[in-house]
Amino acid sequence: MNDSLLSIEDLIVEFKTELGSVKALKEVSFDVPYSSITAVVGESGSGKSVTSNAIMRLLPDSAQTSGEIILRPQGREPIAINSLDERDPQMQELRGGLVSMVFQEPMTALSPVHRIGDQVAEAVLCHRKVSQEAALAEAAAMLEQVGLTEVESKMRMYPFEFSGGMRQRVIIAMALICNPQLLICDEPTTALDVTIQAEILVLIKSLQRKLNNSVLFITHDLGVVAQIADRVVVMYDGQVMETGSVRQVLKSPQHPYTLHLLSSMPGIKIVEELQTSSEGWAEGAPMGSGTVLGDAGGGRQVREFSK
Ligand SMILES: Nc1ncnc2c1ncn2[C@@H]1O[C@H](COP(=O)(O)OP(=O)(O)OP(=O)(O)O)[C@@H](O)[C@H]1O
Ligand SMILES: [Mg+2]
Repeated sequence: MNDSLLSIEDLIVEFKTELGSVKALKEVSFDVPYSSITAVVGESGSGKSVTSNAIMRLLPDSAQTSGEIILRPQGREPIAINSLDERDPQMQELRGGLVSMVFQEPMTALSPVHRIGDQVAEAVLCHRKVSQEAALAEAAAMLEQVGLTEVESKMRMYPFEFSGGMRQRVIIAMALICNPQLLICDEPTTALDVTIQAEILVLIKSLQRKLNNSVLFITHDLGVVAQIADRVVVMYDGQVMETGSVRQVLKSPQHPYTLHLLSSMPGIKIVEELQTSSEGWAEGAPMGSGTVLGDAGGGRQVREFSK
């Protein structure tokens, strides 16, 4: 029996476009365990956002999907996200209730014409029947948890009065206020400068430990993976190349694409040990003939490839 919070099994997503169809995901499978941070890493176009949007059922009508996305919330029956009807009440509960999402650009997720406090309180009111006063009190407490100071006055301010880092803290507060069991962060720090990026990573990690939820953290940056994640899923061209604990995958990557990713990131210390074995991978090189994920032991999976 699978005991992960989220399981994605053989997920295929194909977009119908005027120029033909684009297969964005090709039988993607991985699990997100309870109480942990799982990172999905891969270069631009590898299918990271399509995967997270599929979990939130945010794909456009042009997307055809097959496969399974199963959420197993604690204390509840599992939900087969992929087969939920759009009008099913579980859908509303899913988005922003059981699962919530933080996007890359904090400004797009905030209304420019509403006060910060009202926007965070609104996130409570969307999902629970509480008074406006109680929602505002919860909003203030959550904004404190994400590290804002002088919260009472900040609640009366508008997003344009906040820095990028402060706005991203507000978005994280909005995402967490309904106590989701899964928080999806799609490149939440890419638009921020390096120091603020580090602060937000520390915040996400400490909140995950405190709230004991699970985080699916999407990034193209293995340095970020090393800092924040417990487990990692490496994607390339709509496929999962390998999965395992961060230590396993970064210390002894099994797949040539992972080696390639590591060797292009000199900031990661262990890369020196790996450079000697990174030959054999070239941009655009075929990923091997197999489509079956082989178990490399210790809960790690590596896509078969021909050396
Ligand atoms: N609505 C769409 N219509 C057609 N193709 C799409 C659509 N959305 C995504 N794709 C294609 O799916 C593939 C995966 O895209 P996706 O956005 O998941 O990449 P990503 O890994 O998130 O990249 P990035 O790091 O740049 O955000 C790409 O080839 C992309 O062009
Ligand atoms: Mg993306």
